[in-house]
Amino acid sequence: MKVTVLSVDRVAVDTVDTAVRPTQTSTAPKAKPKKRRSSVGLKLLMAGTGLLLVLFLFAHMAGNLKIFVGGDAFDHYAHWLRDIGTPLLPHTWYLWIQRAVLTVAVLGHIAAAVILARRARLARPVRYAHRPKVQGSYAARTMRWGGVIILLFVIFHILDLTTGTVNPVGDARHPHANVVADFAPSRWYVTLFYTLAIVAVGFHLRHGIFSALRTLGQQSPRGERRARTIALALSLVLVVGYLSVPFAVTIGAIK
Ligand code: HEM
Repeated sequence: MKVTVLSVDRVAVDTVDTAVRPTQTSTAPKAKPKKRRSSVGLKLLMAGTGLLLVLFLFAHMAGNLKIFVGGDAFDHYAHWLRDIGTPLLPHTWYLWIQRAVLTVAVLGHIAAAVILARRARLARPVRYAHRPKVQGSYAARTMRWGGVIILLFVIFHILDLTTGTVNPVGDARHPHANVVADFAPSRWYVTLFYTLAIVAVGFHLRHGIFSALRTLGQQSPRGERRARTIALALSLVLVVGYLSVPFAVTIGAIK
């Protein structure tokens, strides 16, 4: 049986898993070869879902920056979010569709990451006896833990600013008041937590955007340099844009 073996970024990829080897002489009925998704497909899934999440992050950041225009502008924006698509769609339907798409994207992103990480581990025939401290898997480890921190942050963040459950004001009609109460100087620990999470988002994006651009074709040394610069610039814009809101509230520039 012919087995196609491709090598992508140190991950061994076989397009078809051969459960029965050609030399096998067993008379038992031959097991059907188990199909499995190619690692190229999984990497494209990671890149595609990641791109969708990055687009959301930029749109969300642009919306958050409306707070610098004024409290009413920010509240108006939040109410408009619930009216996108009306009258074609009923009130809040667009928001729910977006939530469903984002949830599927996050789950697909995590599933592809877990499967790819497992394959990369299994592709290594013998475990390293002494794991060098600095090695290629540094980025992979950072991505894993960064991803977990971001997931925990998003759960907290939704309880904080969407449902208002853990927010001192928690009034869905006044998101501006919720944000101002959230990052008040006395609640410095909330600002600190948001800062750590947003920096984690920045690191995750830097490596994620770089990997995605490489998967999508930027593989020459020049392309890699370009991908690295684009990834750094986009991540910095996001980190600064997001952090500007809690810090502006904490120093009293937004009341
Ligand atoms: C300091 C920075 C941030 C601020 C001030 C902020 C503000 C807000 C506010 C006010 C809402 C409620 C919107 C509404 O229901 O009208 C919201 C929802 C949300 N935010 Fe953020 N956000 C920040 C950072 C982030 C980050 C970094 C992420 C992702 C990693 C994120 C993901 C979300 C999600 C998923 C929702 C729920 C959207 C929905 O209701 O469908 N936010 N945010």
